Amino acid sequence: AKNRVKVAVTGAAGQIGYALLFRIASGQMFGPETEVELQLIELEQALGALKGVAMELDDCAFPMLKKITCTSDYAVGFKDVNWAILVGSVPRKDGMERADLLKINGGIFTTQGQAIAANAAKDVRVFVVGNPCNTNALICMNAAKGVPSDRFYAMTMLDENRAKTQLAQKAGVDVTAVSNMTIWGNHSATQYPDFYSAKINGKPASEVITDTEWLKGTFIETVQKRGAAIIKARGLSSAASAANAVVDGIFNLTHDTKNGDNFSMCLASNGEYGVDKGLIFSFPCTTVGGKLKIVEGVKLNDFSTEKFNVTLNELRSERDAVKELGLI
Ligand code: NAI
Repeated sequence: AKNRVKVAVTGAAGQIGYALLFRIASGQMFGPETEVELQLIELEQALGALKGVAMELDDCAFPMLKKITCTSDYAVGFKDVNWAILVGSVPRKDGMERADLLKINGGIFTTQGQAIAANAAKDVRVFVVGNPCNTNALICMNAAKGVPSDRFYAMTMLDENRAKTQLAQKAGVDVTAVSNMTIWGNHSATQYPDFYSAKINGKPASEVITDTEWLKGTFIETVQKRGAAIIKARGLSSAASAANAVVDGIFNLTHDTKNGDNFSMCLASNGEYGVDKGLIFSFPCTTVGGKLKIVEGVKLNDFSTEKFNVTLNELRSERDAVKELGLI
């Protein structure tokens, strides 16, 4: 028998959904040998638009797409899924307080976590894209009683891809020459794209690119603020590149990592690098024999440690805020 995966996607009628679903259905995420069932979850008012997306999926005649379900009912949408890709969330609007935003999303990710625990397959893995993704994943993990905490991830793959291209362009090399590009911490403007541990053609990026001022300044800022730059240029937030990063991120979780390389993933800490246990933090990771591991022993110099602590402290304060609201 062929492999088959059931995949739930929330926010399926949104921008990222529109770029993502076709890539999953085409076989790019789980490989050309794996049959896919899509369980698309939207708010009730978006079900009409979602129907249109499902019609377009039908019109692609994807050989490996075996079923499409469209629903606003979490119990139906998360039923027996092996993967839950949580894209839908409520972005911050003008005049909205941070606590309001956390409350609204806290409600969404609590309910979704409970529905995943009650309905999903035993092996379910949860990949959170909707922002603030680290803290949404934290809330979901805490609400999904009975689902092991090592099954929850938040996405810093887009940040990693952005960082790789910036380094490659600066060094004048192909993007495939860049490896070991670690994003530490929060998927936010405090993230630390660690050029000290990145490599270009196997050599430390900081030896290949000798413009240290650029690395410490422009490079980090460009990666941290890329999302805002896209909004400014396009009038809309990153969508196709975000969807591409979801494909890359889940591919990395389901395929063994090239020897010596690593990728960035936010997952619950077990105390690695001094990060509080249970905090959803972006680490350098590998998949070996299908098992996800945090790469240990990466050296952090004074500069890196300072950047690391900034993003760690931001995540601690987000956690404390949701704790205060009773969300975890
Ligand atoms: P969008 O606004 O186009 O789509 C979001 C969709 O989610 C809407 O169709 C909405 O109806 C739906 N939705 C809202 N609440 C829902 C719920 N409770 N259940 C099911 N569906 C729900 O937004 P877009 O551009 O697709 O972005 C989605 C999220 O991804 C945003 O939070 C954005 O900030 C985040 N994002 C994260 C990135 C990352 O690197 N981690 C990169 C880019 C975006």
